[in-house]
Amino acid sequence: MAPALLILWGAAVILQVDLLPDRKFLLLPPVNFTIKFMGLSQVLLRWEPNPDQEQWNVNLEYHVKIHTPQEDDYETRKTESKCVIPLHRGISASVQTIAWRQGSLLASTWVSAELHAPPGSPGTSIVNLTCTTTTTMVADNSTALRPYRVSLRCAWLAGKGAPDDVQYFLYYRYGSMTEQCQAYSKDALHRNTACWFPKTFIHSRGHEWLAVHVNGSSKQATIQPFDQLFALHAIDQVNPPMNITAEIQGTRLFIHWEKPVSAFPAQCFDYEVKICNAKNDYFQMEKVTTNEFIATTHAISKYSVQVRATVSSACREPGLWSAWSQPVHAGNDEQAPWAGWFPIALTATFCILSFIFFLVCRIYNLWNKLFPPIPAPKSNIKDFFVATHYEKTGSRDTETEVISYVEEPGMEVLEHSVF
Ligand SMILES: *[C@@H]1O[C@H](CO)[C@@H](O)[C@H](O)[C@H]1NC(C)=O
Ligand SMILES: *[C@@H]1O[C@H](CO)[C@@H](O)[C@H](O)[C@H]1NC(C)=O
Ligand SMILES: *[C@@H]1O[C@H](CO)[C@@H](O)[C@H](O)[C@H]1NC(C)=O
Ligand SMILES: *[C@@H]1O[C@H](CO)[C@@H](O)[C@H](O)[C@H]1NC(C)=O
Repeated sequence: MAPALLILWGAAVILQVDLLPDRKFLLLPPVNFTIKFMGLSQVLLRWEPNPDQEQWNVNLEYHVKIHTPQEDDYETRKTESKCVIPLHRGISASVQTIAWRQGSLLASTWVSAELHAPPGSPGTSIVNLTCTTTTTMVADNSTALRPYRVSLRCAWLAGKGAPDDVQYFLYYRYGSMTEQCQAYSKDALHRNTACWFPKTFIHSRGHEWLAVHVNGSSKQATIQPFDQLFALHAIDQVNPPMNITAEIQGTRLFIHWEKPVSAFPAQCFDYEVKICNAKNDYFQMEKVTTNEFIATTHAISKYSVQVRATVSSACREPGLWSAWSQPVHAGNDEQAPWAGWFPIALTATFCILSFIFFLVCRIYNLWNKLFPPIPAPKSNIKDFFVATHYEKTGSRDTETEVISYVEEPGMEVLEHSVF
């Protein structure tokens, strides 16, 4: 009886322990949740812990959910968070208080806030925005804080629904700096459709997003603005390598170059070397991580060499290749025909000589046939016999025999006369 009571009592205690904190440990949502515009494509989400929240020995955290422009969610212990996000479609988000307790996640209800999309008629915003950055070296770099400057070029098309009198304006933000474009290119209707910043606040080795904002004005309609974020590695137009030299020594082609104008150090580049020879259809392409390459050439000829560069993945995320460098040439084309034609010329000479030899043979045979050698005073019996025999028979068979017989002295004559 007593043990049974004890068990019951024990169970009640456990129940109490289990129930009581849950009723007491009620998580309340944060208060004063706001979304504040901080700059182009940048907002600050901020909230306060609920003042009525009972403090228990647990750490309170917050679960943030972004609904528009695109779904995202994350957890944080802080009571504010900065978001870099395109804002032309507005932003809406929610936050709740969360806590881990005895292995299970407790969560409060949600509180929400939003920034409305800026007004504008549909189809009036720009389309097809593209941007690229290039790096140049500052001429007088002794006074400059950074020896390199980054230029930015963006281009776009007017929206299909934009009125003819629309004018577009482009702004970029990098870090805390925002600039308005001063140099536009225009289309046939004098609408701005491209912009060039010869120098910017962009740090070419930086990791922050480049935010671009294009809004517009018109007397006929409200123009929708447009935001886009660009990752620097994806739009950086790397310069081609510099001072390329190519030189042939024996059967080897030595190629050397210098790193492109860039804020990245020499060890941050990958290269591609292209060796071509249009004459003999030679084509070689190689990936190289140093700034030289030695190729083996098989024929004395003229080679065209080009090199291009990209920032290696060791230094930043993969990006674009530079343009190919201007071709440099090595070797000599003049020698090639001689080298190629020499055996042919040799064969031809041999053939011609053989032909002449043959011709001369024939001529002498003919000569001998027409004017058979007249027996010289000191000629031998054989010659004498031949002549008599010829006179005697005159038959075709014997004639042939005679000719074949006569050939020998003919050859002798030729041998003596030519050599
Ligand atoms: C919430 O905002 C109101 C009004 O701005 C302010 O009076 C109140 O103190 C804020 N609450 C907290 C917890 O900061
Ligand atoms: C603009 O972008 C759209 C979709 O991305 C593409 O289909 C179209 O060809 C582009 N227009 C021009 C002129 O580049
Ligand atoms: C500054 O420019 C000179 C020549 O224009 C160059 O040799 C030097 O390396 C540059 N300094 C830096 C830090 O890039
Ligand atoms: C365009 O955006 C810039 C930067 O946000 C702002 O200063 C300017 O007033 C806007 N212009 C128009 C016409 O909306």
